[in-house]
Amino acid sequence: MQINYNLKPASERRTQQFKPETNVGFGNLRTDHMFLMDYRDGEWRDPRVVPYGPFEMAPGAMALHYGQSIFEGAKAFMHDDGEIYTFRLNKNAERLNLSGEVVCIPPVPEAMQLAGINALIDVDRLWFPMQDGACLYIRPFVFATEDRLSVSPSQQYTFCVMLSPSGAYYADGFDKAIRLLITERFHRAVSGGTGASKAAGNYAASLRAGKAAAEYGAAQVLYLDANNKQIEEVGAMNHFHVLKDGTIIIPKFTDTILKSITSQSIMELGEALGCEVRQETVMLDQFIADIESGEIVEAGGFGTAAVVSPVGSYIFEDHRVLTVGDGQVGEHTRRIYQVLTDIQKGKRQGPEGWMQKV
Ligand code: PLP
Ligand code: COI
Repeated sequence: MQINYNLKPASERRTQQFKPETNVGFGNLRTDHMFLMDYRDGEWRDPRVVPYGPFEMAPGAMALHYGQSIFEGAKAFMHDDGEIYTFRLNKNAERLNLSGEVVCIPPVPEAMQLAGINALIDVDRLWFPMQDGACLYIRPFVFATEDRLSVSPSQQYTFCVMLSPSGAYYADGFDKAIRLLITERFHRAVSGGTGASKAAGNYAASLRAGKAAAEYGAAQVLYLDANNKQIEEVGAMNHFHVLKDGTIIIPKFTDTILKSITSQSIMELGEALGCEVRQETVMLDQFIADIESGEIVEAGGFGTAAVVSPVGSYIFEDHRVLTVGDGQVGEHTRRIYQVLTDIQKGKRQGPEGWMQKV
């Protein structure tokens, strides 16, 4: 793929890496450039790296009206050799196209996605944040640009990648366990819907529930299935819990749960983590009973942005609070976090092909 470069003059670009003490937050910063490619007449064309800035888009662009838009989230890390490595980016490229299928967006060839992302990181490598635990968050997305108001798939799209030098997703980082709201009032997904995709609309639909969670002092909602019987996932991460023998349980992937690449990685690591990791249908009643009896000792979430986020308690709509173990970050959660982040940072050898040098 021949990529065109229209770069900012060097004098207007970042010229130094961040200092280790800079707290960049999550998703707030942008780098100097973005990668773009357009879909016209049945093919992706004009791959280019250009200065980060506003798009020119018709007010009738279908993404704005009917939400035909999908995205991905991946990360790149700097290793001790000073080089930048992406984590399992091929899995994100593959999933972007699975999400595309759900909302009728044509596939973006994986090789094109990877070439575009690597080209962009290469140009903006001085934006890598040096603070402990920080990384370059990679946000590829596709949106419908055709100027037409009938409800049918757009014939035109833009694929864009932007980068955000980022730290922890939750403001308190890993060390403070979060609280989740368990509610029967809001649902994220139903069978036959778009829940297993990273369709933009899923996140719009989660905002109201997120507001309710905040009113309860919770960080997010732990969504149940439409019948309020099973535990599904959290708005921006899969859910997991740990049994007292150390077994990690992740709710079974269905068409209402996003197939988290972090969860898949934890399952693939199983042995290296020194415990069994398995997927099950998790019934809410049993889950509550197992926390109360001490059979479940830890819980948390897995996600690219969230990494491994410990959950210390749940709150229900009647304000009842259910505390997991002692409500603090547990030893199993700590170990999972350590193993995963050590692999990402190149401090521990991960499975073949997980880290790819830019
Ligand atoms: N579930 C939802 C709804 C998400 O938005 C995310 C974030 O990407 C995840 C789970 C975690 O998936 P991954 O580990 O691939 O980032
Ligand atoms: C990610 O973890 O990459 C996500 O996409 C979650 C996001 C909604 C912040």
